[in-house]
Amino acid sequence: MSDHLIEQAKEILRRNDRGAYSVPTHGLYPFQWNWDSALSALGFSHFDEARAWTEIQTLFEHQWEDGMVPHIIFHEHDEGYFPGPDIWGTGAAVPTSGITQPPVAGFAASKMFDRASDTELATKQARALLPRIHAWHKWFFECRDPKGTGLVALIHPWESGRDNSVDWDDVFERVPTDDVQPFQRRDLQHADPDHRPTDEQYLRYIWLVQRFRSLGWDNVKLHDASPFQVVDPGFNAILQRSCAELAVLADRLNESEIAAESRSLASKGRAAMDTLWNDKLGQYLCFDRTAGKLIDSPSIAGLLAVFADTPEDKAKAIAQRIGDLSERCEYLVPSHDPDAAEFDGRRYWRGPVWLIVNYMIADGLYNASQVAMADRIRQDCLRLIHESGFAEYYDPTTGAPCGGTQFTWTAAMVIEILKTQQIAA
Ligand code: DGY
Repeated sequence: MSDHLIEQAKEILRRNDRGAYSVPTHGLYPFQWNWDSALSALGFSHFDEARAWTEIQTLFEHQWEDGMVPHIIFHEHDEGYFPGPDIWGTGAAVPTSGITQPPVAGFAASKMFDRASDTELATKQARALLPRIHAWHKWFFECRDPKGTGLVALIHPWESGRDNSVDWDDVFERVPTDDVQPFQRRDLQHADPDHRPTDEQYLRYIWLVQRFRSLGWDNVKLHDASPFQVVDPGFNAILQRSCAELAVLADRLNESEIAAESRSLASKGRAAMDTLWNDKLGQYLCFDRTAGKLIDSPSIAGLLAVFADTPEDKAKAIAQRIGDLSERCEYLVPSHDPDAAEFDGRRYWRGPVWLIVNYMIADGLYNASQVAMADRIRQDCLRLIHESGFAEYYDPTTGAPCGGTQFTWTAAMVIEILKTQQIAA
């Protein structure tokens, strides 16, 4: 049975393969997305190591001079997506967006190196990627943490990947909607409008893009100029984990300077995470940097935080919190607490389950010895696939598929889970 699922997953990866990069799915997302690519590479690495390395290599070919790795690379012209390169106006030779996304590439590259059977290829590729990934990590601390707190901020919800999370609702009130050039959304031609962000949210997304564009995409200015500056515990945990993994990779490649710097970035971030902890909920919270206060919103960001090295008591509390969520929904892990008034089981990041986040939470819980909950989450991933196919995300109450179909990173996670975690499918 698991062989059959793996074959189906591979077929999706092949279908969405454009040669040197993958699209997340046909139609809805016709370009290369940053964290989609890094996580998809993990899937490829189980059956085509060369292709897996190419995925990450292509992404880093479009790294900006300042170190940032953009969230979208517009490899080909396609009218079917908004906002396209003309709206971003970043001026890159191959157009890119001007913001970034969760830095999972360091984690992925390091994992791929560890399990490589073609060690010569892996060493060559990892050596080439190492300084680039490190430059991106340093960029975060320089440009998204200008006061040196140890925690980096998002300046646009799209950077989190959790575009319309309830976490941003209050902060978004601060983002104006005036002077936004008229536009036509394209996502609604490919997906059910009830599964997507609202028009009101799109206006604010585009206001921010226009604001950053007016500042020439100068990352020295963007953080302070953004009315949206949010510290996301899940995003920071991904950065910390990637820095820590990169340190290990650098040691193996005898790059002691990168190893030491990466270790120091990871522990600086790790030490600051306590400021985001909420004892009552038993999870981490987002922090509104502009207003200087924690955002009291029970979202998955504070559970994803367990992906980084987490103190035992906090990992245990997170496992318990997820156990509590399991009493109130059929499939783990909902992206928002089902009892919250804002919960919406089908709307993107306001309730649905995402396999990529499940994978990272389960990995973190497993490392923190919370094995039973890690196992339950992985089993739920496979139950969803059996019942609803390789969707973009799923309703945590009914398991219904939502968003795009035949999704690359969902397929990649299925291969990764089945190949590495010995779960009976
Ligand atoms: C979208 O277009 O929905 C993306 O999430 C933005 O990157």
